[in-house]
Amino acid sequence: MKPLTITSRLEVYETIEEVPEAIQELMEKAAKVRDNAYAPYSNFKVGAAILLANGEVVLGSNQENASYPSGLCAERTAIYAAGATHPDVDVLQIAITARSLKHQLLSPVPPCGACRQALVEYEVKQDKPIEIYFMGESGKVVKADSIGDLLPLVFDNSWL
Ligand code: THU
Repeated sequence: MKPLTITSRLEVYETIEEVPEAIQELMEKAAKVRDNAYAPYSNFKVGAAILLANGEVVLGSNQENASYPSGLCAERTAIYAAGATHPDVDVLQIAITARSLKHQLLSPVPPCGACRQALVEYEVKQDKPIEIYFMGESGKVVKADSIGDLLPLVFDNSWL
């Protein structure tokens, strides 16, 4: 047996004011579209803003359903919208913010596993990393240089 140690380097910013201005603007867009989340079951609203290489921003928020598994997270709503409308344009960055209607969310909320898997597909497709920034309603912001940093031992098309 040989142990395998996996490490990822993330950056933690104390507040949104510390991140580059362009990311602050992207995060503001994520916070705005978060209000459009349809989340009557969880009362947990998430917004995602994606910056494309052509400068356009594609937005998404979580959309729930009475048949719970039919709902979709904000990150996948956004990345699938980007893929559907701009299939040949690279994705540069994604900013994500979550807000609970039940309590104040001050710690950074990472994307769920299914969203990490969906996002990493587009890194593989474009063969370029996608920077990711995520936060709660306020407080610390976490950055990773690549979705892959949040998803070690990724399953991708190289296995197929
Ligand atoms: N949610 C997201 O939109 N993104 C995530 O990465 C985690 C969870 C949504 C799904 C559901 O509508 C609500 O948050 C509670 O899980």
